[in-house]
Amino acid sequence: MSTPSGPGRKSSNPPEGDSEARQGHLRPSPEDLRLRVYPDPVLRQRCRPVEVVDDRVQACIDRMFELMYEHQGIGLAAPQAGWDARVFVINVIGSEEEPDGQMAFVNPQVELIDRDERDSFEEGCLSLPGIRLDVERPMKVRVQALDREGNPFTLEAEDLFGRCIQHENDHLDGILIPSRVSTLRRMAVRGKLRELEEEWNPNS
Ligand code: NI
Repeated sequence: MSTPSGPGRKSSNPPEGDSEARQGHLRPSPEDLRLRVYPDPVLRQRCRPVEVVDDRVQACIDRMFELMYEHQGIGLAAPQAGWDARVFVINVIGSEEEPDGQMAFVNPQVELIDRDERDSFEEGCLSLPGIRLDVERPMKVRVQALDREGNPFTLEAEDLFGRCIQHENDHLDGILIPSRVSTLRRMAVRGKLRELEEEWNPNS
């Protein structure tokens, strides 16, 4: 998720499930990881759980933090780096100078604490440059995951942190923000999406 630019307005948009389960077989080295932008097909994959948090997985997580800071994000999911693994990283402070704020989530299980308590806020995505959309989401989540060292943890999150967790977790199922808004709102960014499709270079 990219840094929010301001508060969003209320809206009522049912999510649209559009992810297609596909089995990937990527086991990249950290130096292979680079920012992927729409319409890169890796962004539409359902990612696979990490079997073991080994040195290579840790190095890929570290590379994801680098990419996130390099592109001024506050969260980055593995498919956005070209890796089809159930991993995302977050630092809502958004600064390399504040490493205490950074967290890795491996094989996260996200549970909504209260489906009815929802809020709308403007989101951006590093994989959708130039696109910002008000996305309505539940406010509070509970997450179970493994950390960068492979140790299990559970936490509850709300506000920007809770929203960022949901945004990044969506990436692991191939869901991008245009699928989380109404058809009307999606229409408003259709031209921009088409531009990205035209500009996309698989090798860049
Ligand atoms: Ni994103």
